[in-house]
Amino acid sequence: MNAEILRFETEADLYPNLTLRLELEIKSILEKGRSPVLALPTGNTMIPFYRLARERPEALQVSTWKCFQLDEYFPLTAETEHLSFRSYLEEHFYSKLKTLPLLRESPNGLAPDANLECSRYERKLKDEGGIDLAILGIGVNGHIAFNEPGAPFDSRTRAIALHAETLRSNFKSGPAIPHAMTMGIGTLLEAKKIWIIAVSTTKREAVRKAMYEPPAVEVPASALQLHPSVTWFLDSGAHG
Ligand code: GLP
Repeated sequence: MNAEILRFETEADLYPNLTLRLELEIKSILEKGRSPVLALPTGNTMIPFYRLARERPEALQVSTWKCFQLDEYFPLTAETEHLSFRSYLEEHFYSKLKTLPLLRESPNGLAPDANLECSRYERKLKDEGGIDLAILGIGVNGHIAFNEPGAPFDSRTRAIALHAETLRSNFKSGPAIPHAMTMGIGTLLEAKKIWIIAVSTTKREAVRKAMYEPPAVEVPASALQLHPSVTWFLDSGAHG
């Protein structure tokens, strides 16, 4: 395993460090004359990060970002749109900014044809020159974005069926949305850099398998072992 591992005693140490590193990373991408293309995650893990990020938009130069949401539920309707990841990013980040990022892209969960929408998304990402930095969380079952166990390592942006475990943890009450559109593992592995964040003991087993067991499709995050520039941000619960 040649990934960089940053282990923090508590979440209170992790998120400020993540934000500071992002500041430096954005600066270095801009110095190369490029607007940073970021793949952005959702999930509970990332809420404290967005809270910090929206307090420091100038330092992070958020107005220069080209943001691509990692994944989205499908199909969405007017009734379920509030559950969407687009709404999450709007609520936790975009709506709190005075100046918006250059680009805010998401797979459209309301689109009539998921396959067409996924091809559009993949093309748009290519048109912007690919991902400079993909920021990821990890599911209890080892998923990254919505690449569930069994997802091929060369998969591209596509529609998928969510696993029972994911439905249980993401829809605690009310009806679940059974499908999603997600950047593929192949799409993510083409990012120049990947940062992955995990906190709490609930993620410990997934993190252990992803980092220390041979890469296998049963643990989607283990594909990150095949990427030359991965940084894990872990608290003491997620990594013993
Ligand atoms: C979600 C997302 C992932 C996220 C993961 C973990 O449903 N599709 O991108 O990393 O599951 O979520 P949480 O941080 O809430 O544990």
